[in-house]
Amino acid sequence: MSSWIIEPLTHADVDDVLALEEAAFTNPWTKAMYLAELENRGVSYCYLARDTQRHAVGFCSFWRVLDELHINNLAVLPEHRRTGIGSLLLTFVLNKGVELGATRATLEVRRSNGAARLLYGRFGFAVAGVRTDYYSKPVEDALVLWCENLHVPEGRP
Ligand SMILES: CC(C)(COP(=O)(O)OP(=O)(O)OC[C@H]1O[C@@H](n2cnc3c(N)ncnc32)[C@H](O)[C@@H]1OP(=O)(O)O)[C@@H](O)C(=O)NCCC(=O)NCCS
Repeated sequence: MSSWIIEPLTHADVDDVLALEEAAFTNPWTKAMYLAELENRGVSYCYLARDTQRHAVGFCSFWRVLDELHINNLAVLPEHRRTGIGSLLLTFVLNKGVELGATRATLEVRRSNGAARLLYGRFGFAVAGVRTDYYSKPVEDALVLWCENLHVPEGRP
């Protein structure tokens, strides 16, 4: 059985998270963006999932603003998908949000991103709005999802 550990992002991990960004997104966040996020303490959080050989296999970043959790990015290396890492990261981040005082969570997702929409749906996120042509490369609408009454469903890892 696979097992992973989840650790907070440090300066030493920035190249790992950039590799994950490159593997998952057509418009990846840059090194300068992650270095700025690391300075935004108390608001910006990022967690990496590593396998037992310490290879970075996924990450999730979010902001906690008052009682809201804003999930910015969630990605898993293509060859490690459908093994539960995305769920593990999301569970961890939602728990962390509750611990930090968040009561609701939000994120944006491409309309065509069926995998992510199914995953978020399983965690109680529902579509609350649309941002037309929000994304580039390719241009596409963003669906705005909210999870009200934040809690982590039973039975998740
Ligand atoms: C979305 C993403 C993070 C999911 O990560 P993952 O580790 O594969 O997710 P999990 O293995 O925990 O999957 C949990 C559930 O989500 C749904 N799901 C995930 N990927 C799916 C896919 N390709 N097709 C259908 N359902 C999918 C399923 O319900 C799955 O449960 P199951 O495997 O028991 O059927 C991953 O596909 C990814 O990195 N995508 C590219 C980046 C991205 O789109 N991020 C989201 C931006 S908002």
